[in-house]
Amino acid sequence: MFIVFEGIDGSGKTTIASMVANELKSHGYKIFLTEEPTRTWLGEAVRRGIKEEKNPFTQAFLFFADRAEHIREIKKHIERGEIVICDRYIYSTYAYQGAQLSPSMGLEKALKWLETIYSPIRLDPDVVILLTTSPLRGIGRIKNRERRESFERREFLERVQKIYVYLAEKYGFEIVDSDTSIEAVFEKVKEILRKFDIIP
Ligand code: TMP
Repeated sequence: MFIVFEGIDGSGKTTIASMVANELKSHGYKIFLTEEPTRTWLGEAVRRGIKEEKNPFTQAFLFFADRAEHIREIKKHIERGEIVICDRYIYSTYAYQGAQLSPSMGLEKALKWLETIYSPIRLDPDVVILLTTSPLRGIGRIKNRERRESFERREFLERVQKIYVYLAEKYGFEIVDSDTSIEAVFEKVKEILRKFDIIP
């Protein structure tokens, strides 16, 4: 089973992903909790690319390099019967790099290009849960974090979230409004997972 959490910065994905991991562990599952960018040197290269504000094409290739290796790792865990929980995946590239590339090439063309790069390494999740938040709230949640990236701008995040909502329709994501309490979000997420018969 492969579960993905997506959402703009400050949407609470990371907290919810770890709460879900603990919940599933308590039901006896072996969990591989992971994230993109990864914690490998490739993930570090990605973070450096963001920090140095490399052009959107460079950033897209960096994200794909990191993901190509990550997918091999994810496959191994799935084959071992583990539940993989991933904090960001390909849809982050569609939404963020889509938002970055759309002014120069248009959103449809940008998404097509990104989908083409993804197609040979493709591994589809069983469920994608999109946490939505007002970008202002999201920024409020992250403003105290030490690591600030150029992406964390309200206007940009508004565009990113719009693309996420568009992708949700296109790919059939589950959407959960995260502008409520973390407990309420967690309950909604558990409801979704019950449909997959992995929790009672
Ligand atoms: P993080 O804050 O979740 O660690 O992600 C770092 C930033 O990278 C975040 O602003 C989202 C962005 N990002 C992309 O632009 N494209 C991607 O494919 C991924 C995985 C993340």
